[in-house]
Amino acid sequence: MSSEDEMVVTPWKVAGKVDYEKLIRQFGTQPLTKEILEKLKKYAGSLHYLIRREFFFCHRDFDWILNLYEKGEKFVLYTGRGPSGPVHLGHLLPWIFTKHLQDVFGAKLYFQMTDDEKFLLHHNFTIEKSVGYTYDNALDVIAIGFDKKKTKIISDVKNIKALYEISIKIAKHVNFSVVRAVFGFEESTNIGLIFFPAVQAAPCFLESVLTGKKVPCLIPAAIDQDPYWRVTRDVAPKLGFYKPAQIHSKFLPGLGKGGKMSASQPETCIFTTDPPEVAEKKVFNAFTGGQPTAEEQRRLGGNPEVCTVYQYMFYLFEEDDKKVRELWENCKSGRIICGECKSILAKKVKDFLVEHQRRREKARNIVDEYFLEI
Ligand code: TYM
Repeated sequence: MSSEDEMVVTPWKVAGKVDYEKLIRQFGTQPLTKEILEKLKKYAGSLHYLIRREFFFCHRDFDWILNLYEKGEKFVLYTGRGPSGPVHLGHLLPWIFTKHLQDVFGAKLYFQMTDDEKFLLHHNFTIEKSVGYTYDNALDVIAIGFDKKKTKIISDVKNIKALYEISIKIAKHVNFSVVRAVFGFEESTNIGLIFFPAVQAAPCFLESVLTGKKVPCLIPAAIDQDPYWRVTRDVAPKLGFYKPAQIHSKFLPGLGKGGKMSASQPETCIFTTDPPEVAEKKVFNAFTGGQPTAEEQRRLGGNPEVCTVYQYMFYLFEEDDKKVRELWENCKSGRIICGECKSILAKKVKDFLVEHQRRREKARNIVDEYFLEI
């Protein structure tokens, strides 16, 4: 295996071909079993397409959270964003599913904006910039449709008063050798980043602190955030809290060959603020599983398994299982060629962006109401 293919999954870097089965073993998470999905279905009515299509693929204690819920104990949801730039379509997927969980379980949501983390992580990045993106990215969060009465956005920089006491209590139980091993910190790492895992852990316990009783917490996110939860789960019982539960997703790939969608590769990444025509161009330049010529495509069929256009339809733009199966079959049999498929996706992406951007603009009037008051 070349070093280019080598899998790296950390909160700050995802590289190589991601082997999700291997990650389950490496990170010590659990696959989502049939029994768990049956239980979820009982409450959700039908399974969300991101679950049916195994975009969310593993968990920690999700079954425990569902069992408690069955006994009448409500849980809170917690997820977040590191506001270092505009939001891309990949970020939206865990939020779309979080919104679904909020609707199904009537759960309160804490949404953390780690404007401290991004300031500490990036050179030449000011506090003003990261806090600016906190408010900008909050528009995307609101555009997803979270219930205003049940959702609190936290800016670490602006709302630190709500988190600081919990963070230092957590930090006291985590020594340097643990975070060095989990996050790969080095001698040269600034001490802000070394403390930061305690800040990302704090919202797991915020509802318990504010209500004065133990409240279970469920975190939907992509699996890159898992290192934080491993540390948090070790500390939770020492502070008298429940361990936070997680449900982990895969990564939406970029539009190029291999790799997750990442802001560091803007040509293969669709931002929610892209003008629709710019996004359309990106789709037309996407890497597909097509044959070199239309004639060969019709004769030999394409390879949807490696095609980014197909994956975008599968994970984001075609919820109808029958239609997505048809697309697969039409590609395999050569009945559809890449140009046609790209046109279908480009139209869907454009329509989505027009609507999302309309919702973003509308959110400007109410964004302050979503933020934690503390
Ligand atoms: P950030 O800003 O890197 O990512 C925000 C959310 O998007 C997920 N994600 C993706 N999901 C699917 N496909 C992709 N290509 C993709 N890229 C990123 C991330 O897993 C995350 O759920 N430190 C965090 C912010 C944070 C947080 C949290 C995230 C604070 N508390 C609790 C999740 C849960 C960060 O920088 O996320």
